[in-house]
Amino acid sequence: MGEGICDYTKHIIDLRRHMWMAGVEVELRRLIWQIAVVGKYISAKIHESNRKLAGLKNVYGEDQMALDRASDEILKNQLQFSGFVRQYASEELEDIIDIGTGQEKYIVTADPLDGSSLVDSNLSIGTIIGIHKNSVLDCGRNTMVAALYITYGPLITMIYSAGKGAHEFVLNREGEYVLSEENIKLKEKGSIFSPGGLRRDWTDKHLKFIDQMESEGYKLRYSGGFVPDINQILIKKGGLFTYPALKKSPQGKLRLLFELQPMAFIMEQAGGMAIDGNQDILSVKVENINQLSPIYIGSPYEVQMARRMLDQC
Ligand code: F6P
Ligand code: MN
Repeated sequence: MGEGICDYTKHIIDLRRHMWMAGVEVELRRLIWQIAVVGKYISAKIHESNRKLAGLKNVYGEDQMALDRASDEILKNQLQFSGFVRQYASEELEDIIDIGTGQEKYIVTADPLDGSSLVDSNLSIGTIIGIHKNSVLDCGRNTMVAALYITYGPLITMIYSAGKGAHEFVLNREGEYVLSEENIKLKEKGSIFSPGGLRRDWTDKHLKFIDQMESEGYKLRYSGGFVPDINQILIKKGGLFTYPALKKSPQGKLRLLFELQPMAFIMEQAGGMAIDGNQDILSVKVENINQLSPIYIGSPYEVQMARRMLDQC
């Protein structure tokens, strides 16, 4: 007998089934699911803005909100009625805001549209989410329970971790997130690197570290989007991304709470590491929501090499 539709669905592990099988607790899996669904709406918004790039007017003739702000609104509105979120903090907002009744279990952080300046050049961009059970003004190890990111590229993909490995899903043509890679595990050492910042602004120690990577033959892979650059390291199973301390900006450029902690959570779950040059990113205390931090993130060999070389006097 040929395979009918029922047989076909048997082979597909969708996001909800996967989280259930992985033993993720019910409220957390419903929340992750709802956020993944928001990814579809954000993607629709990106397409709408691309129509504008193609010279097509929006149907209502009204001013379009900037894409990153629109993505933030979509996310916030969805989470407000999720029933699982008591506070929301986003790169697009000044402060942490209360949503829900105050009794809900989780606090969500978001970089709603990372790399939004790459939209016009049609490169991949993404959404980064952290899910916390306690105040976000702490180190991630005490409060993070899950993290995920969505990549809007030729395909829409989503990688989540609820502390039981890191798993990749692809949004299929039927609009379902289906499992594409379970338990992503990095190799000890990779072959690509993504160094952020200008060479002339790097510290001497960082410069030596990058010289060392170049001399070991690492290939340069830097898109200018944090999400696709991290995604490349995870999917290629190794390598290093860094946005270092700069001479005029000792804390670098990227945000600890919205960008670095969620990626560090996922990277550790995939057997990788993430440090600020010395300390683990997830052990750094968040003092304010817009705090920046340098980062070295990727497979163990490269991150440990960074730690060694940056420690030297
Ligand atoms: O969110 C900040 C961001 O756009 C990241 O996505 C990216 O990794 C970084 O800045 C790129 O910075 P630069 O333009 O300095 O290379
Ligand atoms: Mn960003």
